[in-house]
Amino acid sequence: MEDAQSTIKPHAVMIPIHYQGHVTPTINLALKLASKGFTITFVNTENIHHQITKSSPKKQSKESEEDHDIDIDIFAGARSSGLDIRYKTISDGFPLSYDRTRNSAEFNEANLKVFPAHVDELLGHLVQDDPSVSCLITDTFYTWTSRIARKYNLVNISFWTQPALAFTLEYHLDLLVANGHFASNDTRVDTIDYIPGVKALEPKDLTSFLQSTNTTSLARRIIGTAFNDVKNADFILINAVQELENDTISAIQEKQPFLAVGPIIPSGFTRGLVPTSLRTASDCTNWLNTKPQGSVLYASFGSSIQSRKSDIDEIAHGLVLSQVDFIWVLRPDAVSYEETYVLPDGFEERTENKGLVVPWCSQIEVLSHGAVGGFMTHCGWNSVLESLWCGVPLLCFPLLADQPTNRKLVVDDWRTGVNLCDRQPLTRLEVAEKINRLMSGKSAEDLREETFKVRQTLERALATEGSSEKNLNQFISDVKAKIS
Ligand code: UDX
Repeated sequence: MEDAQSTIKPHAVMIPIHYQGHVTPTINLALKLASKGFTITFVNTENIHHQITKSSPKKQSKESEEDHDIDIDIFAGARSSGLDIRYKTISDGFPLSYDRTRNSAEFNEANLKVFPAHVDELLGHLVQDDPSVSCLITDTFYTWTSRIARKYNLVNISFWTQPALAFTLEYHLDLLVANGHFASNDTRVDTIDYIPGVKALEPKDLTSFLQSTNTTSLARRIIGTAFNDVKNADFILINAVQELENDTISAIQEKQPFLAVGPIIPSGFTRGLVPTSLRTASDCTNWLNTKPQGSVLYASFGSSIQSRKSDIDEIAHGLVLSQVDFIWVLRPDAVSYEETYVLPDGFEERTENKGLVVPWCSQIEVLSHGAVGGFMTHCGWNSVLESLWCGVPLLCFPLLADQPTNRKLVVDDWRTGVNLCDRQPLTRLEVAEKINRLMSGKSAEDLREETFKVRQTLERALATEGSSEKNLNQFISDVKAKIS
């Protein structure tokens, strides 16, 4: 049996959702599976492909911005390193010139109908041309996976890029509704203690979609349909770690194969092998090299979420008041697509030599630099994992989606971070005080100690006998058994 299995080579078509926070972990999962003997056909939308190629440093130096060459194969480096990864791009239904962020509601609504048809057509060709295609790996947020997997007789594998806690809340929506914590005329505000594997959770820790009173929004409809669909998946892989969410993961495992294989972070030879960034990164290394160990605060609020102007103003003032050295990623669209945010008067003069403000950076490189000692973050799941992986404690300012839930894990469960804002509205004094609590004194020492422990847990999970490695190997062996 062992020998027969070892000759089987699963071939998976992998399709991420077209956002930075989903594309990056899906590419990294593809590299991981390919390094364990999978053949991968990775599918990006033309738009995402265009953004990656436009942002890659090689492209920048060689050609002008307008000359976007759709022919570049972002996986070429992976192939020359011996990985069997093919690459395809398909249309998301809109021309490249269409502004998807500014028109996100229209884009998402149309995309819901058009994109599955494009995926269906592509799979029809792939399966016909290459009978070895055996698995479909898509983001859990897709609503159509089981229909298409069934049509082409493929193993249906769902990839959840967020923690198990955020998954289980959506998975048990029926319980939240039945108990009056969601979609009720008189929504309950007391503790939620009936989700399997979750001891206790406050309503403020629910994902923002479950805190919203708009129960028919597009996001809500997509998530509702997607979580019905995921119940048909043959396997669910998640970018999380068994030891950190053991009860939650074990409870879901009673219903479906749910395998924690995280943190899916590029390491060893796969680091930097494939470009994943949708924006051009500024170099921060030279500046960081001039700063003492653990002295710099890194502040960034992810790839796409927008903040209130008043909050960003208070953060700017708070950074000045804290007197801490910092790197701040301030995306041009941090507040609005219409107008670039302008820093308060005098900010540049008062932070000269102390602060570096950039539109985008290579976050993992910044976090792994020894000079960085804290991360002010919106708690996007990739940011959380990257920070913990680098042993950097967090200052949490959740804004949307799974971020309030991720905050609970970071601050309440693992004690690796502090809340930025205990009271509304956010004030500059509170920002400065919390930055100092994160960066210096006994509180900082305690946070660093707990973060170090979590980092060790992550490292152990990825070691040869570690939980994530074992889960991934078990998954591969089960897939092989299924397709043999
Ligand atoms: C989205 C959701 O908002 C988030 O809640 C969910 O958990 C994942 O999908 P995003 O808001 O972009 O993600 O945040 P995050 O998950 O942190 O992902 C951002 C990614 O962009 C990270 O991998 C980070 O390293 C990268 N990044 C960010 C950079 O490389 N450079 C930057 O300057 C900022």
